[in-house]
Amino acid sequence: MLDQPYSPSEPDIFSPAIYAGVHRPLEDAETLPPFCYSSEAFFRREVERIFMKAWNFIGRADRIPNPGDYFTLEFVGVPVVVVRDNDGEVRAFANSCRHRGAMVAAGEGNCRAFRCPYHSWAYGLDGQLLSAPEIDKSRNFDFAEYGLVPLRLELWAGFMFLNFDPAAAPLSDWLGDLPERLASYRFEDMVCVRRKEYLLDCNWKVYVENAMEAYHVPTVHRSTLQRQKGPHAQKQPTEGEWIALWKEHEGSRALLVGDTGFPFIESLEGQAARGSWYPLIYPSTMFGATRDCMWWLELHPLSASRTKLIVGSSFPKRTVQRNDFSEIVQRYYKRWDISIPEDNEISKLQQKGLSSPFARPGRLTHLEPLVHDLANWVLDRVLDDPAGR
Ligand code: FES
Ligand SMILES: [Fe+2]
Repeated sequence: MLDQPYSPSEPDIFSPAIYAGVHRPLEDAETLPPFCYSSEAFFRREVERIFMKAWNFIGRADRIPNPGDYFTLEFVGVPVVVVRDNDGEVRAFANSCRHRGAMVAAGEGNCRAFRCPYHSWAYGLDGQLLSAPEIDKSRNFDFAEYGLVPLRLELWAGFMFLNFDPAAAPLSDWLGDLPERLASYRFEDMVCVRRKEYLLDCNWKVYVENAMEAYHVPTVHRSTLQRQKGPHAQKQPTEGEWIALWKEHEGSRALLVGDTGFPFIESLEGQAARGSWYPLIYPSTMFGATRDCMWWLELHPLSASRTKLIVGSSFPKRTVQRNDFSEIVQRYYKRWDISIPEDNEISKLQQKGLSSPFARPGRLTHLEPLVHDLANWVLDRVLDDPAGR
């Protein structure tokens, strides 16, 4: 008999019974059903219950070093402007004019005020409405009530996190023990030297899963990263909304075998001095923290099957000040520019295969504990009653 297309056991895709196999211990667990990576209804639920409530990573504050420096982004469909105000504070606002809603800022740059391109209402860097042509003929208009809508933005070690939920607990609760565990990298003394964007034809979870398992390395990166030998990366105990792998090794993980690079970060201690950390800050930010630098993979989900990837590369200030920095850093760029497209390509192929009506839940190996963790973390938030009690 021919196999039928896969369809879940229940008509409601949020019925916990469908996910019983995902909840089992890793050795017995199934993957998420394929529709979790292609269904717009599942994606909308993730947006509503995860991305609209989480502390979402949006890069480093050194992107906007001076008062008036700003950049815009659209995160899960919400237009946002991030600006450094005249007091040096980094602030985020909804990028929607309080007149009739046009976006007041575009791209990135430096300005003294945001002037709406539609009817020229103007807002200060603190979001206050400064002027509104002809509004004096309207009755009972209070400028103080029509500033840009502020959004929550908090910093840790120079990294910016945005939260759309006014009631969310502080960023420090979200990060748990991550700042302490990774303190010896002194991220606050680093500078982002390159930021590169890619458009991915895959669901955001496809990409996170790829970054959080090394099972694919001997196949996908067989002639590149695979040459960096060593023991398997190990899952680490963590507290807070993050999980992590740590891998013991010599040298830097940000270089291809045979290349030499910059001196190691002097302050590194403990595990950081003996290998590399690969944390996933839920829902969708991955760091690679190695002996001489850090890089991040920042995901902005666009739809069930499209995601924007931003790769940032940061080095200690002392390294960036070296005379040979711009020459030697090319070796690091070469490593990322080889490995990242390899991951992007396999993610596209996975998304295609997963979107088939004949795709069905798979099984995991012992090398994919974080894939299992992510699936369960998502289900805990997306389902009303994950345990199905
Ligand atoms: S929509 Fe912005 S000034 Fe009219
Ligand atoms: Fe990879």
